[in-house]
Amino acid sequence: MDSLNIVILAAGKGKRMYSSMPKVLHPVGGEPMLARVIRTARGLSPSRLVVVYGHGGDQVRERIADSDIIWAEQAEQLGTGHALKMALPYLSADGKTLVLYGDVPLTKMSTLQRLVEAAGEGMAVLTDVLDDASGYGRMVRGADGKLQAIVEHKDCTPEQLAIREINTGMMALPNARLAGWLAALNNGNAQSEYYLTDVLELAVKDGVTVESTSVDASWEAAGVNNKLQLAELERILQANQARTLLEAGVTLADPARIDIRGEIQHGMDVSIDVGCVFEGLVELGDNVEVGAHCVLKNVKIGAGSKIAPFSHLEDAVVGGACKIGPYARLRPGAELAGHVHIGNFVEVKKSKIGDGSKVNHLTYVGDAEIGRKVNIGAGSVTCNYDGVNKFKTVIGDNVFVGSGTLMVAPVTLERDSTIGAGSVVSKNAPAGELTVARARQVTVPGWKRPEKKS
Ligand code: UD1
Ligand code: CA
Repeated sequence: MDSLNIVILAAGKGKRMYSSMPKVLHPVGGEPMLARVIRTARGLSPSRLVVVYGHGGDQVRERIADSDIIWAEQAEQLGTGHALKMALPYLSADGKTLVLYGDVPLTKMSTLQRLVEAAGEGMAVLTDVLDDASGYGRMVRGADGKLQAIVEHKDCTPEQLAIREINTGMMALPNARLAGWLAALNNGNAQSEYYLTDVLELAVKDGVTVESTSVDASWEAAGVNNKLQLAELERILQANQARTLLEAGVTLADPARIDIRGEIQHGMDVSIDVGCVFEGLVELGDNVEVGAHCVLKNVKIGAGSKIAPFSHLEDAVVGGACKIGPYARLRPGAELAGHVHIGNFVEVKKSKIGDGSKVNHLTYVGDAEIGRKVNIGAGSVTCNYDGVNKFKTVIGDNVFVGSGTLMVAPVTLERDSTIGAGSVVSKNAPAGELTVARARQVTVPGWKRPEKKS
């Protein structure tokens, strides 16, 4: 069995990002570019996965802390050939090495599979044909159509500059030949770099077969050198993801106005209005509707629930047939059963809310356990925090909390109790009774308002 090694070159500085963060950590679709390349690489089940790092290496290693990655340092960036040389000690004696770039995040796994297969016992290069090839290495072919060399733009003759077939940089190479080829590279070229691309000529000289295969779409080989290219690739990824959702039957009001920085799992007849952002894993059940401009991060939404516009949900679970928003906020640990209504300007944190309960207006529910068919009136607050400790509010089934109630935790409102509006409840409210905790209303007869002297 031929083993496959993969080397990801990621030592470049990324000067033109003008950022203190190493280039390969900049996110595309919410995920660092390098993490994406690693994920695609893993899909090919390599026996060894090496990342060549340099600039900002500690930050990169800290962020991508997977234990199966072999880190090879390239202290000085002397060229792509030199970079691969740094990985050489970690590669197996036989089999193949696939070279990828840490700043080319959107290559499809199937394309790389094809490249590895094209190499056979020899080498293969992934190519593309561009209208404007400037900046890229050109694929130079003989009269027989066979590849002879890759010539970097800066080293091209005027005739070679006219070639539109370019080197994407990704290639598959036979391990048994690598040490010899990399040792033979020199930096006698326009950029005084050790070019990995020069191995193609060495392969031809050694009688090793050199094949090529090309990308299905140019964005597969598009790299990121600046924020403009980063933004362009982000739009391409988002358009691809939107198409996948549409093809799977999800209704999108506008496929150009959705951002998925993670993954959406969905049932049937899901619809999503414009301007929504999805992060992490979002699960949407059958018939879920997400209104305009919602942000959903790591949430699970049950069948038939409607999330009205401008709602923000994070690390929360929503049961079936719920109505959330507009302008609702579900914070981490919010767990709603079915048929729950959460209305405008309501915040729920680390709380369970039972079936059919309603919290419709201007309310804070934190560290609470709320039963079934509870109604919490407008402007109520669970006072869960004394500045140091958090306390729990427990509300039984079928409790009615009047508007403007402050529940000073720890406190329990027993089942079927009713709390008069404007109460400050700091002691348990007994089951089935009306509890009112507010000053009695008085009228002062004959009292006069002060008046201005004219
Ligand atoms: C390279 C290719 C060129 C190809 C182009 C595609 C060479 C000599 N040229 O050119 O034929 O058309 O990519 O984009 O290979 N890197 C290191 N260490 C280094 C130098 C580079 O790790 O010393 C990494 C970079 O981080 C990057 C990748 O290698 O991920 C490519 O480097 P870059 O400088 O962008 O190569 P180009 O000159 O664009
Ligand atoms: Ca480049």
